[in-house]
Amino acid sequence: MSKNSKINMEKLVNHCKNMGIIFPGSEIYGGLANSWDYGPIGCELKLNVKNAWWKKFVWESENSQGIDSAILMNPKVWEASGHLASFTDPLMDCKECKTRHRADKLIEEFTKNQVNADKMSNKEMETFILTNNIPCPKCGKCNFTPIRQFNLMFETNRGVTKESANTIYLRPETAQGEFVNFINVQRSLRLKVPFGIGQIGKAFRNEITPGNFTFRTIEFEQMEHQWFCKKGTDEKYYDFYKQYSMEFLTSLGLPKEKLRFKDHDKLAHYAKNACDVQYEFMMGWDEINGIHNRTDFDLSRHQQFSGKNLEYLDQVTGEKYIPYIIEASYGLDRIILALLDNAFEIEILEDGSEREVLHFKPSIAPIKVAVLPLIKKLHGDVAKKIYNELKSKFRAIYDDTGSIGKRYRREDAIGTPFCITIDDETINQNTVTIRDRDSMKQEKVKVDDIFNYLNNKFQG
Ligand code: GAP
Repeated sequence: MSKNSKINMEKLVNHCKNMGIIFPGSEIYGGLANSWDYGPIGCELKLNVKNAWWKKFVWESENSQGIDSAILMNPKVWEASGHLASFTDPLMDCKECKTRHRADKLIEEFTKNQVNADKMSNKEMETFILTNNIPCPKCGKCNFTPIRQFNLMFETNRGVTKESANTIYLRPETAQGEFVNFINVQRSLRLKVPFGIGQIGKAFRNEITPGNFTFRTIEFEQMEHQWFCKKGTDEKYYDFYKQYSMEFLTSLGLPKEKLRFKDHDKLAHYAKNACDVQYEFMMGWDEINGIHNRTDFDLSRHQQFSGKNLEYLDQVTGEKYIPYIIEASYGLDRIILALLDNAFEIEILEDGSEREVLHFKPSIAPIKVAVLPLIKKLHGDVAKKIYNELKSKFRAIYDDTGSIGKRYRREDAIGTPFCITIDDETINQNTVTIRDRDSMKQEKVKVDDIFNYLNNKFQG
């Protein structure tokens, strides 16, 4: 068996569509740029990653709690956070074909990431684009408008009139819901600093740059953990959460050698320290999560704008202070893309045929086990019985259509780690064969031992 190197993003996008993993958003209406829908297999995969994150960051991370805050918030939140004033992208329009582009991305793509536009001012970016004659990706001409800063927040209206007083925003990050609930969570659960708040939820950004598949979308899910700690301990926890992030990502099955830290060249005004974890996607290294030392900026600003006291009172020392925040922020969709990118292979088998396979780690595989009667007429009833017993314990499916070989291929293509085949021996000797997705080897297992056999594999 050898691996096929013909894999590219287009192949992965098609595979995801054909296998019910991810579909283009609103496809029957011609789609909506930068939006995607997760199908039955994709949403199982997402659920597994969310559960793994929740376990690691809410259950197992010391002194941490989870919340689920509202997407729509009082617009003053976005004044306090700085998003209204400065959550912007530098955009230019092509005067020839009227398409809109991010100036920093034009430069980075043109120079193949050899030039970091993050460090440049708008004027410097305009000059660089002009002097290097960087072409419009659509029409190839270099005739752009000057850069304008474009706010990434989606606006909507509360109430029946469209007056500006009624404008509210779809949250561009879940973090602010955690910050504004700092005192509620601390007091209601009588928590002592340091403690953490985690949440998983949708975020929205008016991204105009076409993403590589789900890499950059207008609606995405974040998994964010905020660690509230005393100034002076912040750098220790920043280092801790860097390592913790790496542990989490490798625990999902992402290989260590395809992950690296990348310090931010230009720190946000509130940040004391910040880095990304990058993954080596098929299109190159790029960010999948960020770790930020946000200092006391967020809580101080919310205290200032809300007029509410957000200081923590240390009951032992009597000291009052605004905690520092260490944030570990994950894009769920980017992790899913990294997992798909890492797992997808087209293998050439010994007989020359090709098999498309997703080599997910068993514990995050969307479907854990498929129950397949060899011949429906003869083995279907027994197979159904076994499936009915398994389905409340593992995400299982039953499939009796097509040849057994084709059914194995279908399961390989969605990454099901184990297929249980029911045949005459099941009826006569009470045994099944369990096929391993990666080695394609089969093992005989007693019907009564199926649960333990699978359970051991998932623990491992
Ligand atoms: N609260 C901090 C924050 O939101 P960020 O670096 O802007 O920081 C965090 O976003 C993570 O969210 C990123 O590392 C990325 O994984 C994900 N993300 C951001 N914008 C995204 C987009 N347009 N599409 C998909 N994921 C996105």
